[in-house]
Amino acid sequence: MRKRQIIIDCDPGLDDAVALLTAFAASDTLDVIGITTVAGNVPGDLTARNARIIRELAGAGKDVPVCKGAPVPMLRDAVTAEDFHGSTGLGNIDFPKPRIPASRQHAVNFLVKTLRATKGFPATLVITGPMTNIALASVMAPDITRGIKEIVLMGGADSEGGNITPHAEFNVFADPHAAHAVFNIGVPVRVLNLDVTHQIRTSDQQVERVRALGSRQAIAAADLLAASNRLEVAAKARVAPLHDPSTIIALLRPDLFDGRKARVSVVTEEGDRFGKTVPEYREDGHVLWYDKADADDVFSEMLGQLGKYR
Ligand code: RIB
Ligand code: CA
Repeated sequence: MRKRQIIIDCDPGLDDAVALLTAFAASDTLDVIGITTVAGNVPGDLTARNARIIRELAGAGKDVPVCKGAPVPMLRDAVTAEDFHGSTGLGNIDFPKPRIPASRQHAVNFLVKTLRATKGFPATLVITGPMTNIALASVMAPDITRGIKEIVLMGGADSEGGNITPHAEFNVFADPHAAHAVFNIGVPVRVLNLDVTHQIRTSDQQVERVRALGSRQAIAAADLLAASNRLEVAAKARVAPLHDPSTIIALLRPDLFDGRKARVSVVTEEGDRFGKTVPEYREDGHVLWYDKADADDVFSEMLGQLGKYR
């Protein structure tokens, strides 16, 4: 069977980096045809550099382009999350300098060109950061939806409440106008929101099981997860949720998740609810809003995928 073609739009970011390593490990099922980066956890120059670092660590090269995208959100002022990712965005872990340059093509142009070319075999968009690039691409070329099989994204919150304000989750808060556009882009969307990712936290013992896999990629993943736990414990006295890797696991094992159909809007008016996601649960909704996961099996699936590195 033909592999699922995916584009990962991300803001690496510790958990984005683990998601990328997991996606590249699952190369028997997933064909990563490109990485687009956006400003988010850290500024855009750093998220692009971090994506290049992880691409090379995973053993991929310029055949998987890294295209730098929007340096700022569509309308609001830029926000970052160094408290949870360190000043480098990768937990200040000392990775080798990336050798292979980023593509000269802007992420939005890459998305438009690539998604126009995938109409015959639509690609899956995985979004693990602010959704600026996809929103801009869909405004620039609304026809790209014909090249999109589905979107699987990490963002938003309902019953769980926010993680960057009491109401808003970071990826949506960082660009709520873009998020609203993507939630209503008109293709199927599956959402790994805080209601479900907060159920999937990686203990320090589980991190050491990743490290024990022994490959340099698994050891790096363990370092990234350990850094994430250190920063999360310092800020919130709990180990870190497996936010972004859950998007890749949801591609590989959708049976491990459950949710409800919904239509989703985003509060874009100024005020304390700015950036809040508002799912309206209805059977004809084209968004699948996840709210349950088998956390142990999600971790086991990630461990199994990372175990493929040699
Ligand atoms: O709220 C969690 C999300 O914000 C994750 O994607 C994390 O990487 C940050 O971007
Ligand atoms: Ca992210």
